[in-house]
Amino acid sequence: MEKIDWEKLPFGYLKTNFNVRCNYRNGEWGELEVHDSEFVNLHMAATSLHYGQEVFEGLKAYRGADDKIRLFRVEENARRFQRSANGILMPELPVEKFTEAVNKVVAINKEYVPPHGTGGTLYIRPLLIGYSAEIGVKPAKEYLFIVFVSPVGPYFKEGFKPVNLMICRNFDRTAPLGTGSYKVGGNYAASLKSLKEAHDAGYSTTLYLDAKEKKYIDEAGPANFFGIKGNTYITPESKSILPSITNMSLMDLAAHLGINVEKRPVLYDELSTFDEVGACGTAAVIAPVGKIYDPDFDKTFVYSADGHPGPICQKLYRKITDIQFGDEEDIFGWIDYVT
Ligand SMILES: Cc1ncc(COP(=O)(O)O)c(C=O)c1O
Repeated sequence: MEKIDWEKLPFGYLKTNFNVRCNYRNGEWGELEVHDSEFVNLHMAATSLHYGQEVFEGLKAYRGADDKIRLFRVEENARRFQRSANGILMPELPVEKFTEAVNKVVAINKEYVPPHGTGGTLYIRPLLIGYSAEIGVKPAKEYLFIVFVSPVGPYFKEGFKPVNLMICRNFDRTAPLGTGSYKVGGNYAASLKSLKEAHDAGYSTTLYLDAKEKKYIDEAGPANFFGIKGNTYITPESKSILPSITNMSLMDLAAHLGINVEKRPVLYDELSTFDEVGACGTAAVIAPVGKIYDPDFDKTFVYSADGHPGPICQKLYRKITDIQFGDEEDIFGWIDYVT
């Protein structure tokens, strides 16, 4: 293994020793296999290449001060992986096989889990692809499951500081009855142009409104949205957003801290009423939002004028990351140890 400068680790791909794979053939899942190649030998007519039969997940392994390696709510990722697969007619990988594969890939690459205190983690990327050849639009008969890992540094190098979002009305990430609630590759392809537009204009990511009426808040790029109003945590209920495991956990933590929680359609008009706003997901945990710019009305909603995250965002961020890294007791039963 090459020496890694843990403090300077980017949020990007870095080769590790092994990945874990499993084939689905003749209607059955095979055994887990360990591979050292980073490449896949894929038929040129595979359904994943033409018809987007591809689903994936994203989670992390965290090294504690006790040197133990922790996984955060891995069974929720396993269940979401099943829902996503089912959503585009792919076979569901059993939850136990998913968790066993994740444990295995972390265990055989454990020297790549960054040391505690560096802010780094081992990012885990499970994916499932339609593997066999078809020409007509139909699901494949064979599938390949792969899970690989990459050590990553903190998502935001500058630390837990507010980021800015730009509202996007000229692109939809997904449709109300589309695949937005599944983690399928096509949703991300559909988001690339709008993300570029936001980046080019100097914003961290795009804030999507609902595709049908453009009246409600959907998602903040590849993250869920929440707003804080007084002592209430408010997050959108929508058929076209990905049910975020981070958001689900923040709602539980907020309730535990005595903060009211509302999951309901959130009107665009409410943006001016929030005291704090955040985008949440595995990668950044919480990205506190400093301001949201609406280019169509040349209007800016400001949540942090002084460059600091608000108190509730700070409290929730601290609490969830302390549980993930084992600095605080896990009273919710969210942590599994890699053995
Ligand atoms: C579109 C989208 N929304 C939300 C999330 C956040 O989900 P999670 O908290 O499970 O990482 C992600 C990342 O997985 C995502 O890609």
